[in-house]
Amino acid sequence: MIILILGSGGREHTFAWKIAQSPLCDKIFVAPGNSGTAQIATNVDIKVTDFDAIKSLVLEHKIDMVVVGPEDPLVQGIHDFFIEDEQLKHVAVIGPQKAAAELEGSKEFAKEFLFRHNIPTAAYESFNASNVENGYTFLETLNPPYVLKADGLAAGKGVLILNDLNEAKAELKSMLVDAKFGLASSKVVIEEFLDGIELSCFVLTDGKNYKILPTAKDYKRIGEGDTGLNTGGMGAISPVPFATDEFLNKIEEQIVKPTIKGLAKDNLPYKGFVFIGIIKVGDDPKVIEYNVRMGDPETEVVLPRLKTDLVEIFMAISEERLNEIDIEIDERAATTVMLVSGGYPEAYEKGKEIIGLDSVENSIAFHAGAVLKEGKIVTSGGRVMAITSYGNTYQEAIKKSYQNIDKLHFDKMNYRKDIGFDL
Ligand code: AMP
Ligand code: GLY
Repeated sequence: MIILILGSGGREHTFAWKIAQSPLCDKIFVAPGNSGTAQIATNVDIKVTDFDAIKSLVLEHKIDMVVVGPEDPLVQGIHDFFIEDEQLKHVAVIGPQKAAAELEGSKEFAKEFLFRHNIPTAAYESFNASNVENGYTFLETLNPPYVLKADGLAAGKGVLILNDLNEAKAELKSMLVDAKFGLASSKVVIEEFLDGIELSCFVLTDGKNYKILPTAKDYKRIGEGDTGLNTGGMGAISPVPFATDEFLNKIEEQIVKPTIKGLAKDNLPYKGFVFIGIIKVGDDPKVIEYNVRMGDPETEVVLPRLKTDLVEIFMAISEERLNEIDIEIDERAATTVMLVSGGYPEAYEKGKEIIGLDSVENSIAFHAGAVLKEGKIVTSGGRVMAITSYGNTYQEAIKKSYQNIDKLHFDKMNYRKDIGFDL
């Protein structure tokens, strides 16, 4: 098979790494890719949302399968674009159709879905510019902290958690009336604050059947001890030690099953990954959010633990026979630590040469914001590289990642030295 992966992060390098191990795969293209994917696949400089250019590429190289990494093309309807095109409709696309991708594209849509199917989640109401006054009144009925969420995609920045009522009202106005997040905040969901520890649950579905992948926990804040600004993710661990069998069983019964049934019932066509952000409140799981793709950097610890051939799984998803597949998981723990550019998640410099990659041993360096330039590997983004290791325990794995990080260097390199500190 000839397979195209869309995206350019650590997640997509991990997909390419895993897919390249499949005897079913003859050739991999990645658009646009990075310096890591360049080592195992052919990078093509096309934007993930340029559907016409993607079509030309697929036809030119007789691509059989497209694996969609990030949410943007899914929310913009890339799967529907393929189905509706005579020349493309035979191509397998891994990722939900547009109607289902609204689970990530609109917080209000996701909340309505959760309530319609009795899936545990925080209480909420949504508001727009015409009823902002009602929003103030609703905030007055809540206890702090106040959770405000821009309805649409806001590159992970659209959620505000505020302790002060007046500040919450001011932010609500800024989002709704002053378009703080542009069109994404023309609607705002205000939610009850849930106090607990978070984990991510990943589910594969063909729309009828599902398989649960290992859980993971990511570390979103830039600073040690979970302080400072939110990032795309500074590290991850799989499995999550506090996710006992009993807790996982609750997740499956109360969340996964009604989600998959709900998709079918609501006619939301879904062939891909469902990423369920969960918070453990007391002993019970509640849904924080849905994403319609894999997480990054969670992919860098989840896929290395998957023993089953990923291409075989994707074919089964495409042909709606996921029930025939046995998912085999590596018992070992996997951890990853993200190396980031100094200054990230605020302004940072690019183009710094990354040194030491040849000396990495017993870890895998998944490239993220890194590109090949004049024969050198240089930084091109905030999150630069994810250093993944296995271990009999997550402590053992994390030690290996840090040992290898000691051998790596680029100007102003930063990373968290406390991944796993809270477990
Ligand atoms: P989201 O984009 O919806 O995942 O929100 C981003 C982050 O905000 C989550 O990972 C949580 O840490 C936090 N968060 C979101 N909703 C809530 C909530 N209702 N209660 C507490 N924390 C929340
Ligand atoms: N690491 C969180 C995400 O991918 O959204």
